[in-house]
Amino acid sequence: MEQRSGLSEMDAHLIRLCEAAGGALAFDAFMREALYAPGLGYYARGDAQFGHVPSAAKPSDFVTAPTLSSAFGATVARQVAQVLDAVEAVGGERCITEFGAGTGALMLQIMKHWMLKIPGQRGEKTPETQIMELSAALRARQQSTLGEFATYTRWLDAWPDVLEGVIVGNEVLDAMPCKLLARLGDVWHERHVAQTDGAWAWQDLPTSLRPPLEPVGQHDYITEIHPEAEAFIASLAERMLRGQGAAAIFIDYGFGEREYYHPQRHMGTLMCHQGHRSDPDPLSQVGEKDITCHVNFTGIALAAQNADLDVVGYTSQGRFLLNCGLLEVLADASLPERANAQKLVTEHEMGELFKVIALCTPNLTHALADCIGFAVGDRTHTL
Ligand SMILES: C[S@@+](CC[C@H](N)C(=O)[O-])C[C@H]1O[C@@H](n2cnc3c(N)ncnc32)[C@H](O)[C@@H]1O
Repeated sequence: MEQRSGLSEMDAHLIRLCEAAGGALAFDAFMREALYAPGLGYYARGDAQFGHVPSAAKPSDFVTAPTLSSAFGATVARQVAQVLDAVEAVGGERCITEFGAGTGALMLQIMKHWMLKIPGQRGEKTPETQIMELSAALRARQQSTLGEFATYTRWLDAWPDVLEGVIVGNEVLDAMPCKLLARLGDVWHERHVAQTDGAWAWQDLPTSLRPPLEPVGQHDYITEIHPEAEAFIASLAERMLRGQGAAAIFIDYGFGEREYYHPQRHMGTLMCHQGHRSDPDPLSQVGEKDITCHVNFTGIALAAQNADLDVVGYTSQGRFLLNCGLLEVLADASLPERANAQKLVTEHEMGELFKVIALCTPNLTHALADCIGFAVGDRTHTL
């Protein structure tokens, strides 16, 4: 394919896709390429963009909970352990599958829950572990983070037919392409992206798509819907239901739909991250920065229920971690470790905006009614 002069490889790639689509790309297709186009997308490039990377030439773009504090994974592991016991009791495999493992920090922290007890050895109760990651560059980083534990982990090239055990995903749903809707002059449009005068610009095309709740009022309103994240949950459910028993735990920033489609949230939640700064413009520096949108947890819960899973619980990250015993995990931690872990739970940092939702196959619903993470402050009824 001819490379057009003066254009970045990413721009040339997107222009070709726009032409093939008749002139403009729907935003979700644009976001998918900006993040995951092989060799070009933000997550598909070879350099490290998130977590603390002391050796990296440029600073990271953002920090996630497991890259901020190892207490995060050590605490999540307690919930995972409880669920694995419940899965084993119904004849299922003790297996942990992580989707979108990023640097590999969370998987390492979770594995240590079992591996450190018997150094160098897998104990009887040590679960199998596997990672499903879209980015080949991140797979390599995960292998290096896991070090000696990497030999105990499988990297999956495709979705397995059956999923048993526990599925975890931290900040994965927010990284899935979303559709952008714009209510302009009382008419709903789907936002597309096209090249105009050598730059990317919005092209809004009338649509029959609607957000799940019509925001009250007639003012202009931009928001997102999440068909890809919801289809992901449906695919997951299909595999979970083929096995003996499984539960999935997702941690991410977002809220229920009443808050998501609140009339005052008229600019939506789409955000870009680069160099620890946020900006709302996904059309500049395409492929150089992260693009995310908040999660509509009501949509995730409904997608799960429509696919015959049950919702085990939904609460804030702060409440979940405290319920799971974060304070006990930190009992012997140093002051700097405690200071970082504090950010996981305080309301103005990650404690309130981030939520945890757990979903399970119906044969586990009874056993998981006393899930430690949702023991106090379960907000499922607010979804
Ligand atoms: C914001 S990062 C979070 C990484 C890591 N979980 C953490 O907390 O540090 C998003 C991750 O999700 C991955 N990802 C996005 N969509 C995915 C999908 N459908 N399947 C597997 N991984 C996915 C990305 O490649 C990336 O590793």
